[in-house]
This record gives sequence, C-alpha cells and structure tokens, in this order.
Amino acid sequence: MPRKILVTSALPYANGAIHLGHMVEHIQTDIWVRFQKQRGHICHSVCADDTHGAPIMLRAEKLGITPESLIAQSQRDHMRDFAGFHVSYDNYYSTNSPENKQFAGEIYKKLKADGKIANRSISQLYDPQKNMFLADRFVKGECPKCAAKDQYGDNCEVCSATYSPTELKNAYSAISGATPELRESEHYFFKLGDCEEFLKVWTKESTLVDGKQRPRLQAEASNKMQEWFEAGLSDWDISRDAPYFGFEIPDAPGKYFYVWLDAPVGYMASHKNLCDRLGLDFDSYWKKDSDAELYHFIGKDILYFHALFWPAMLEYAGYRTPTAINAHGFLTVDGAKMSKSRGTFITAESYLKHLNPEWLRYYFAAKLGSGVDDLDLNLEDFSARVNSDLIGKYVNIASRAAGFISKRFEGRLHDGIFTASDYPLMDRIIALQRQLQGAGDKLAALFEAREYGRAIREIMALTDEVNQYVDSMKPWAMAKDPEQSLHLHVVCSFLINAFRILTIYLKPVLPKLAADVEQFLNVAPFTWNDAQVLLLDHTIETYQHLMTRIDPKDIAAMVEENKQNLEATTPVAKPDYEIPPITETISIDDFMKIDLRVAMITEAKAVEGADKLVSLTLDIGNETRHVFAGIKAAYKPEELQGRMTVMVANLAPRKMKFGVSEGMVLAAGGDGGLYILSPDTGAKPGMRVK
Ligand code: MSP
Ligand code: ZN
Repeated sequence: MPRKILVTSALPYANGAIHLGHMVEHIQTDIWVRFQKQRGHICHSVCADDTHGAPIMLRAEKLGITPESLIAQSQRDHMRDFAGFHVSYDNYYSTNSPENKQFAGEIYKKLKADGKIANRSISQLYDPQKNMFLADRFVKGECPKCAAKDQYGDNCEVCSATYSPTELKNAYSAISGATPELRESEHYFFKLGDCEEFLKVWTKESTLVDGKQRPRLQAEASNKMQEWFEAGLSDWDISRDAPYFGFEIPDAPGKYFYVWLDAPVGYMASHKNLCDRLGLDFDSYWKKDSDAELYHFIGKDILYFHALFWPAMLEYAGYRTPTAINAHGFLTVDGAKMSKSRGTFITAESYLKHLNPEWLRYYFAAKLGSGVDDLDLNLEDFSARVNSDLIGKYVNIASRAAGFISKRFEGRLHDGIFTASDYPLMDRIIALQRQLQGAGDKLAALFEAREYGRAIREIMALTDEVNQYVDSMKPWAMAKDPEQSLHLHVVCSFLINAFRILTIYLKPVLPKLAADVEQFLNVAPFTWNDAQVLLLDHTIETYQHLMTRIDPKDIAAMVEENKQNLEATTPVAKPDYEIPPITETISIDDFMKIDLRVAMITEAKAVEGADKLVSLTLDIGNETRHVFAGIKAAYKPEELQGRMTVMVANLAPRKMKFGVSEGMVLAAGGDGGLYILSPDTGAKPGMRVK
C-alpha cells in the first residue's frame, strides 16, 4: 500500500545566501524524499522562502529597493542553488503569498475563538528618528556588566552576560543611531501556557507509521522539551508594530504577525499552492484525522518553534499535527564553526562553481545519522573519501567491465549466466548476487530511519566485495585467452549487474549519476525493487566516464573565493560604462575645505512640476537642511525616508526654481545608474566625514 507523505525543510530566510550549512538540511530531506518516491510511495516535498520581518525590511531599505524585489531576487537565487544540488522540491514558494496570508489569518481567528489569544500593553525601546520599535538585536550600547562598547541588546559578546536592552548604558538604535525611548504598545500573545497539558503528551507520544510505532521527537529533542516544561511555558508575543514587513493582523490595524507566526504556516501555503496546481486534495492532508504522514526536517536551533508553537497552533486551530519532527545538528568545517575570514562560510553558489554537487551529497550522506549531532565537513577527508569510495571503488566496477561488453560482445549482456551452474566459481557469483539483492530491505530500513551513514557503509562493504571478486577473476587476464571468452562474458555481465544494483541503492543520494547510469544501461528509471531482478540478454550503451576525481586545488580555490567574499561583499563586476579619467590632483587642505557630514533623511518628497528632483529634509545633528536632489529616476521618495547618507554641508545655498537648496547629497554614478552613499551602521547624524 503506498503511503501518503508530505515532507518539508525549514524555510530559509530571504535575506541571505544559501550556504553549506543549509545544504545539510536540504540534502538530508531530498535523499529521504527521493528514497520514498523510489519506493513507490506518494511523497511530496515543499519548501519556501521565509520573507517577513524587520531584518528583511531594513536590508531592502539599505539596498534602496522594495522588500518585494529583495525577496523575489532571493527566491531566484535560492531556487537556482537548490536545483544546482539536485534538490528537487515539488513546490518552492514564498511566505509572502496570498495562500499564506489567508491561512495565517484563519489560524489566528480560530485560536482567538478558542480563547488562546490575549493582548496586553508592553513597554519596549523605540527609535524616535526611525519611528519604529526596536527588537533586541537592533539596540546597542555598553554592557551593564563589563562596560564593553557596542554590545547588542540581549547579550554581551565580551563577557557573555545576558540582560534586557533597557539595561544597556548609553543605548543607541543600531538603525539610526538615535537614543531609544521606552514606549508602551499593545501586543498580542498566543497563550502557550494553556497548551501545556496537550504539549506534554504530544512531545512524548509515538504514532503508528507503516506498521511501526515511531516517536514524534528524537530522544535528544524530547529531553530538551522536558527542560523547557520545567522552566515553564510563557505566552508567546506574536505581534509587531508598524513599520513591519509582514501580514497585518485581521481586525488590528497597524499590528503585524511576528515573522515566526506565519513562517510555519508557509508549509501549508506552499502545499496548498502545489495541491491547486496538481489537483490534489489538500484537506485530506491537513484535517484532524488525516491518513497522510507529515514530516518537518529542521535544524536543532529551531526546535522550540516546531515542537511547541507549531503543534499547539495546529491543534487548537483544528488541524492535524506533524507525524514527526526530524531535527539535525549544525555543520562545522574543518572542526570549527563556519568562518567568513577563514573562507569556510561556503556559499552554495561558490561550491557549485568549483565542485560537483554529488560529491557533497555523498559526503553528507556518509556522515548523517538520525540524531542531532553536529556534522563536520573536513575538506581533506572530503576529497579522500569521495575519490576512494565513489571513483576508486564504485564507478571503477563499471569502468572495468563495460569496455569488454562493448568491444567483445557487441554491448550485449549474457542471457543465462546465473543459471550456468557448471561455471567455475559460480557459487561465488550466486553468493554475491544474494548478498547484493538481500541487502535491499536492510538498506531501505536504514534510509527510512535517516541512518544514511550506516546505509552508505553497508553499500560500500558490498562494493568492496564486488571489487574483491573482480580482483580474483582478473577479467583483463581472461580477455587475453580466447578460450575464456564465455567466462569473460559471464563475469562482466555479472559485474554490470552488481554495479546496477549498487546504483539503485545509491540513487536517492546520487540522482544525477543514477540517471546517467540508467542511460548507459539503456533502462527505465530505477525503482527500489528493480534490484531484485537481473538485467540479462540486454544491450547497453558504450561506457562514458561517470564521475571524475576531486582535485584538492578546486577546494582550495573555493575556500579562497569565500575569503575574498568578505572583503568585497559585492563582487567587482567589470564595468559596463565608461569610467571617467581621474581629475587633477588637489592638496589635503583643498579637500579639508569640503565639510562632509553624515545626514539622516527624515523626509523625502516628490517636487511638483520637477520630474528629476526629490526634496529632502536632512538631519545633520544640530540642524536641519533642505536639499533638492536630482535622484528621482533612481529612487522613490518613500524608499529614501529614514536612510542615512552623506552631504556637503558647507556648499553655498543655491536658489532654484522650487526653493533654496542648502547643500548636496553625495551619489555615485553617471551613465551606469545612480547610487546615493550610505555610511556604515553606527554612524550618527552630524558626524564629519574625512
Ligand atoms: N526562517 C527560519 C526557519 C523558518 S521554518 C518555518 C530559519 N531560517 S535559516 O535560514 O536561518 O535556517 C534555515 C534552516 O537551515 C534551519 O533549519 C537551520 O537550522 C538550518 N541551518 C542554518 N545554518 C546551519 C548550519 N550551519 N548547519 C546546519 N543547519 C543550519 O531558521
Ligand atoms: Zn559584558
């Protein structure tokens, strides 16, 4: 009976590139999904970009683009990266979608009707210049314990103290530099404490899956839950005040859902979008007594959201809850946290530029288990292992046998080899065949349990056996003796079959290679059970090299490139416009005559009757300036509001048609576009630029 399975990976934030840490998760998920599909189950996988929240809003602002265009660009990049690694979601969507808005609103209303929503006023730091409440990470100041400067609002990186942002000394807004004020605001809360009894049961429960009891959480995760229960579940603040990029809460104008409320709902939204596209029955997956299985693959850092908030939201909004949460550990590179300065914060894009994606799929698979242990990408071990296992052992079997089949036997596999019992060492072939085919169930159980590392070890042990068989048969020697032609045919036909069976087992991990093998063998896409039948009396194609070895030089080049990434975050593209020559040299005194100041754009308006101009109000610390800037072609006025820039503060005022301009804003450009300058975060209005 085919099972009905829906699988998700955590939704990556739309404000960053996909890196190899993300790939641990997406590769783990993809292997599992491909395995289920290969077994003949009805399995779909969905993902999406997580697009809401203040960081995305502010990042877009900094780049001078709308959040919508930022998230559209991210989605293109993310989808390109996943496709590059052969990670194939049935749907890759966005949390900024109509489906998500509707589900988030509906779930909220159902929770409210069930008495699970409360509201009350809280006081929070507010940026009076930027006119927004500040999340902890957007407040900086001196640590109240050790007085270290420029520490974030929740903990000190120097002495590790934790505190609340109001305890910081000389606090400032990390966005505008302004001194924050404490202000009151009404917030909405999900009463998680009221869900405690349900969650205590749910997190310890097992469910019946495919005839077996399966716990919803891994042992490590379940233990973590007990700690959280002991600490007590507090109400969860699910609202944020405008300005915020997200969904407005129904019937609460100016209040938005906190990004983590609508993010997991994004799983449903992406699935709904898929169902509408394929004509599938969405409700049959999500209703309370659904017979479908639902799995979320996530990193251990976001367990709280997936094992507490999400099941509670689903339960009390009248939906089914996940069958299980599959958490994994974190990726380290060469034994340490990924580091931008060491070049080990490796983006998916840069990996793909230098290396074959299936090498990493294999390496991760070989190291993944069902627990939450961290996983290390040791770059030396990576090339040694891939070269030895995949090229030296596995691909080698095909390359040793295929040539003889094409050259000596017109590409045809022998028809009755495995019954020719008088053949010397036939016992060995039969035993090996049994071993290869007999491994199918055990390997399936290991893949099912996400014990990929153990599965790979078993597969490699079989590969070793086959290679030992090749070594003892010495087909290259047989080939020299015309009397042994039949033996050669039998041995090589068996080897091609052994290679085929190994490929069937490796297919979830190496989908591209398996597709190439299907082509080479001239067969339909492999299903899991194809391993139980042999390919006889069948013509195969001539062998083409299936995979090359890793050259450690390419790894070094990739690491080097990621180091450079830090120095110049935007790669220096070859200019596609004319670069004007550098002008005449001036003295430092000449330069110092120009008084450049950091300015905050407090207001930006279009100028009626002027299609190039924007009227800017600039705060430069002790005074306010009005400037007309010819930047309308490049910026919408509302995008400029709240931005920091640099102005010439001692330029003689100039009378223009629309009023007096009291200075000039600095911008780069010419015929290659127009880009106004911004100081680095932390600069305050009025600071001199020298
Ligand atoms: N947007 C949230 C998830 C919302 S799910 C409804 C988020 N995004 S993330 O981009 O920060 O992380 C996405 C996933 O990648 C998470 O499961 C996270 O654990 C995982 N990883 C991010 N860095 C990782 C490593 N270095 N190693 C392994 N997994 C890592 O959290
Ligand atoms: Zn400190």
